[in-house]
Amino acid sequence: MSSKNKERKKMQSSMQDLLTKDVSLYQDAQEAEQSISKHDDDHEEHMPPSKDELANSKNHSETINLIKSKCKFKQEYVDNKIILSVNHLKQYFFFGSGISKYKLKAVHDVSFQIKEGECFGLVGESGCGKTTTGRSIIRLYNITSGSIYYKGHRIGAGTRWNEKEIKYTKIRLRKKIKELSEQLKNNEISKEEHDKILKEETEKAENIIKVQKAKIKQAKYDDSHVDPKLLREIQMIFQDPIDSLDPRMTVETIISEGLQIQGFRNKAENHKKVVEALERVGLIEDYASRYPHEFSGGQRQRIGIARALVMNPKFLICDEPISALDVSIRAQIINLLNDLKEEMGLSLLFIAHDLSVVKYFCDRIAVMYFGEIVELATSDELFKHPLHPYTKSLLSAIPKPNPLTEKNRVRITYNPQAVHDYSKEKPKLVEILPGHWILANTPEIEKYKEEIKELDSNAKFEY
Ligand SMILES: Nc1ncnc2c1ncn2[C@@H]1O[C@H](COP(=O)(O)OP(=O)(O)OP(=O)(O)O)[C@@H](O)[C@H]1O
Ligand SMILES: [Mg+2]
Repeated sequence: MSSKNKERKKMQSSMQDLLTKDVSLYQDAQEAEQSISKHDDDHEEHMPPSKDELANSKNHSETINLIKSKCKFKQEYVDNKIILSVNHLKQYFFFGSGISKYKLKAVHDVSFQIKEGECFGLVGESGCGKTTTGRSIIRLYNITSGSIYYKGHRIGAGTRWNEKEIKYTKIRLRKKIKELSEQLKNNEISKEEHDKILKEETEKAENIIKVQKAKIKQAKYDDSHVDPKLLREIQMIFQDPIDSLDPRMTVETIISEGLQIQGFRNKAENHKKVVEALERVGLIEDYASRYPHEFSGGQRQRIGIARALVMNPKFLICDEPISALDVSIRAQIINLLNDLKEEMGLSLLFIAHDLSVVKYFCDRIAVMYFGEIVELATSDELFKHPLHPYTKSLLSAIPKPNPLTEKNRVRITYNPQAVHDYSKEKPKLVEILPGHWILANTPEIEKYKEEIKELDSNAKFEY
């Protein structure tokens, strides 16, 4: 091998080492085998309407209803007032090709549910996959795996695990056939036995493949037939108020773009709606004719909020809406969102990288680390019993207003390798107290239970 080639190979392997989230094919196969059943959507699939069914429908609206009725729907979410359900969401990004192909697991198995009128906080360090989760919900990405339900309707589903199930079923069948022919050759089984087992195994594999193909077909069908009106109810305030506003468009064009997409073409009506949205976020009508660069950061953030509000959303994803702002304006934006929540009966997914921001604003908080949720509880409960070392680390980063205690504040750094031993047992999300979920294995659960007792007794003592 030439020295140039050697160098290239060396570089590639060191790059792979650096990408700690990259998983080798072997690991991937194992992982797939273990988690397929876990990530499978366990409900019956409806089949897309047949050509005859479509031809028999009397009018356009009946055809639309027929198409909609064939999309996946879970009544239990509606009954339990769950507006959004994210189930085992995975979002991988693929780079390169051939030997240097690798994947980045931006979101790896995230599940949570948001109730109607609830404000749900998603907190974690930079790069842990918060924005990717939000973007997956509004369908900016084709999700890799898992499913997303809004008001009971499946609005997004990934098929990677179904495809893998098909692949590994075929591999398993091939392995079994080879094993059987070996056994037959060595006279360990008779020809009849061989044929009988072979038939059974083939039928089993064919059934699995059939089911998985139906699931893929259903997911693709749902994806292309999701009701656009439903999707419009979900709006996102983007993280970066500078990048998310087109510098060549006036504020009016930016805000009314959504209205035009919805089919509102009346200019005067649209202008009225734009002014209403601007006033709602504390801006004035005159600003409508200005360009984004003529505003301050806080004002730009308000324009971003107005753009989302003009669509009359029911569910709002706020992606770090205050991170780029100074402290005084932060309070204004939080109050504004709070008022809008009350006024419009919004449900919110509030993304932040700081626990202090979400403490008073959110009803429940999920702490995310490296694409996974590590702890989830109500705000009060999370601050009362912070258990996961990463949550503790985030809490230790919050400055205290008291100069005496602030002087002695110890910053906890989180090093997963040092604090977790998952060599024997992998962790899973466990409900350690009612509504309090934590990513842990059995020995850790015992440890956390002890910690809860200790925290409770200390609290009594302080009281
Ligand atoms: N479109 C994309 N293509 C490839 N990689 C991406 C893409 N979007 C995000 N990523 C990667 O996914 C990971 C998670 O990114 P994400 O933007 O979700 O992080 P975040 O938690 O929102 O961080 P921050 O707090 O800095 O906004 C990062 O490593 C990022 O580089
Ligand atoms: Mg982000």
